[in-house]
Amino acid sequence: MCGSKRVWVSELIFILLVVKGWWSEGCLEQERSALLQLKRFFNGDLRLQNWVDDEYYLDCCLWEGVECNNTTGRVIKLDLAQTRNWESEEWYMNASLFTPFQQLESLDLIENNIAGCVENEGLEKLSRLNNLKFLHLDYNSFNNSIFSSLGGLSSLRHLSLFGNRLNGSIDIKGLESLSNLEELDMSDNAIDNLVRFEEVEYLLFGGKGNCSDIWKQGVAINKEIQLHNFTNLEGLILYKSDLHVSQLLPSIASFTSLKYLSMLDSVLKGALHGQDFRKFKNLEHLDMGWVQVNVNTSFFQIVGKSMSSLKFLSLTSSSLNKNAILDQGLCQLVHLQELYIGRNDLRGSLPWCLANMTSLQVLDASSNQLTGNISPGLCELVLLRELYIDYNDLRGSLPWCLANMTSLQVLNASYNQLTGNISPGLCELVLLRELYIDYNDFGGSLRWCLANTTSLQVLDASCNQLIGNISPSLCELVLLRELYIDNNDLRGSLPLCLANLTSLRVLDVSYNQLSENISSSLMHLMLMLKSARPWTDQILSPTFMLSTVCSNH
Ligand SMILES: *[C@@H]1O[C@H](CO)[C@@H](O)[C@H](O)[C@H]1NC(C)=O
Ligand SMILES: *[C@@H]1O[C@H](CO)[C@@H](O)[C@H](O)[C@H]1NC(C)=O
Ligand SMILES: *[C@@H]1O[C@H](CO)[C@@H](O)[C@H](O)[C@H]1NC(C)=O
Ligand SMILES: *[C@@H]1O[C@H](CO)[C@@H](O)[C@H](O)[C@H]1NC(C)=O
Ligand SMILES: *[C@@H]1O[C@H](CO)[C@@H](O)[C@H](O)[C@H]1NC(C)=O
Ligand SMILES: *[C@@H]1O[C@H](CO)[C@@H](O)[C@H](O)[C@H]1NC(C)=O
Ligand SMILES: *[C@@H]1O[C@H](CO)[C@@H](O)[C@H](O)[C@H]1NC(C)=O
Ligand SMILES: *[C@@H]1O[C@H](CO)[C@@H](O)[C@H](O)[C@H]1NC(C)=O
Ligand SMILES: *[C@@H]1O[C@H](CO)[C@@H](O)[C@H](O)[C@H]1NC(C)=O
Ligand SMILES: *[C@@H]1O[C@H](CO)[C@@H](O)[C@H](O)[C@H]1NC(C)=O
Ligand SMILES: *[C@@H]1O[C@H](CO)[C@@H](O)[C@H](O)[C@H]1NC(C)=O
Ligand SMILES: *[C@@H]1O[C@H](CO)[C@@H](O)[C@H](O)[C@H]1NC(C)=O
Repeated sequence: MCGSKRVWVSELIFILLVVKGWWSEGCLEQERSALLQLKRFFNGDLRLQNWVDDEYYLDCCLWEGVECNNTTGRVIKLDLAQTRNWESEEWYMNASLFTPFQQLESLDLIENNIAGCVENEGLEKLSRLNNLKFLHLDYNSFNNSIFSSLGGLSSLRHLSLFGNRLNGSIDIKGLESLSNLEELDMSDNAIDNLVRFEEVEYLLFGGKGNCSDIWKQGVAINKEIQLHNFTNLEGLILYKSDLHVSQLLPSIASFTSLKYLSMLDSVLKGALHGQDFRKFKNLEHLDMGWVQVNVNTSFFQIVGKSMSSLKFLSLTSSSLNKNAILDQGLCQLVHLQELYIGRNDLRGSLPWCLANMTSLQVLDASSNQLTGNISPGLCELVLLRELYIDYNDLRGSLPWCLANMTSLQVLNASYNQLTGNISPGLCELVLLRELYIDYNDFGGSLRWCLANTTSLQVLDASCNQLIGNISPSLCELVLLRELYIDNNDLRGSLPLCLANLTSLRVLDVSYNQLSENISSSLMHLMLMLKSARPWTDQILSPTFMLSTVCSNH
């Protein structure tokens, strides 16, 4: 008996293994043992606790930091950041340890106290990995000699060497063969100069930024360097740097190829003169967000006159003050697609002349002290996709003419003093995804016609003075994810058809005058929502009513 049972059991195991292999689930044996071999060098092994040679942990694709392609079962990603004990001595790495992972696409060795490689086992060994696209070596101690070993890694797209021991003058001739390289981050080193870098198109100074969307051929360094020879430069990013702007701008003004200039979050030394921008005739993207600099009206005039190609202008949180009169100059930028002037101290009303900026797709004027009515000139911006005018002191009602802004997808007008009914004009905005009109003084009812805005995913009308019943037409908004109508004066009961809104995750109806049996109808609705979508149980119930009393009413 016992004997035959044992045979049966081993057959079962055999079948399972075969099935497993056929599905290609789990990792390859040679990759598993290569990982176990690697583990010996990573002594901060709290992270690698489940990297063990044990039948219960056979599938190394499930190990911490390992990611496999789930059809081939091959390791494609190794995340070994901060896996060596920093107190242990510097590590001279043997790059051959990674060559068994033939399909590897991404290797992360950030902050492992690596001083370089052992002789004849350098990073050139990784050239056998034809799919390697991402190599992150930040916060180690690689020195300039690393460049001579990288030449063969032709599949590489992103290489980061942030915070290593690169210094002096760097000749990165070794990298010329990396024809697929899109991003090279060498910031936070001690680089003085780059040799033979005429081909560079994007340059990033300063801290680590996420610029993956705009980089072609990018280099990031942290010190002011000789810029004279970067005549092909298309983009210059001064991220969190502290550069002498009055010296820098004239010296780069001669780069007629420059299209992208960002000074995001930089501390500029010296005075910023509008005149310095006169020459940037081809500039398409100018980001001066979070740059504490006094920009005045003459700046706008010069920018408006000189930069006719400008598509993106950000002056978010840039100390624009009440003296900056927007309509002088700014409105001449008729090709501008995105304008960010939020988080400043702008006063007065939104200028009429905005009507002339008919290419505008995004306008952010939030968090200022704008007053007055919402200018009907806005309604001429028929390409506008996103409009942020929240956190101002705007009064009056939402204009009817909003109906003409048929491209609008996001409208945020919360935290103002807007009154009147919710404009029927809104009901024509069939692309509207998010509507925030909370913390205003809107009265009247939640318009039934909102049922026409069938793209709506988020509706926040809380903290107003809305009255009447909650219309069942809300149930037409089948894409609705979040609905906040708390802190109003709504009456009646909750329409049970809300249970049909299968995307709804947050429903806040608290602090209204809903009918007395609201709790039982709420319970009923909740049960219906739950039974329709049992798996959302955890998400739904705690957020079902989550509001507190509005502070400003
Ligand atoms: C997994 O590998 C197969 C075969 O090489 C490939 O076609 C597929 O794109 C890979 N999947 C992922 C998510 O990389
Ligand atoms: C394979 O991986 C992809 C992306 O990681 C995931 O979306 C997909 O569901 C996985 N397929 C299987 C069969 O596990
Ligand atoms: C580097 O690792 C490979 C593969 O494990 C091994 O064959 C080789 O001997 C190692 N070289 C040194 C110098 O340790
Ligand atoms: C640079 O790193 C290599 C190891 O990759 C080492 O042999 C060499 O001594 C280092 N050079 C300096 C100047 O520290
Ligand atoms: C670069 O650093 C090394 C030590 O790591 C030093 O010997 C060398 O003089 C430095 N070179 C420059 C140009 O600063
Ligand atoms: C960088 O930005 C891209 C697109 O903008 C995004 O997909 C990616 O997740 C970001 N990466 C990081 C590390 O933030
Ligand atoms: C600029 O390039 C010229 C030759 O093309 C070279 O002589 C000069 O040294 C370079 N200047 C800098 C600052 O690299
Ligand atoms: C604007 O600033 C520049 C220098 O920063 C100054 O020369 C100019 O007079 C100012 N213009 C106005 C209208 O304040
Ligand atoms: C729009 O531009 C035209 C011509 O530049 C100008 O005459 C008109 O006054 C501008 N409109 C507004 C509303 O500023
Ligand atoms: C919408 O635009 C048209 C033509 O530009 C105009 O005639 C109409 O009055 C506008 N509608 C509203 C509601 O402003
Ligand atoms: C809502 O849409 C219907 C059909 O598209 C249309 O007849 C009706 O006028 C719209 N209602 C409002 C208030 O826009
Ligand atoms: C949900 O929708 C279906 C079909 O549209 C309808 O028959 C049903 O009455 C709705 N449920 C509720 C509670 O309104």
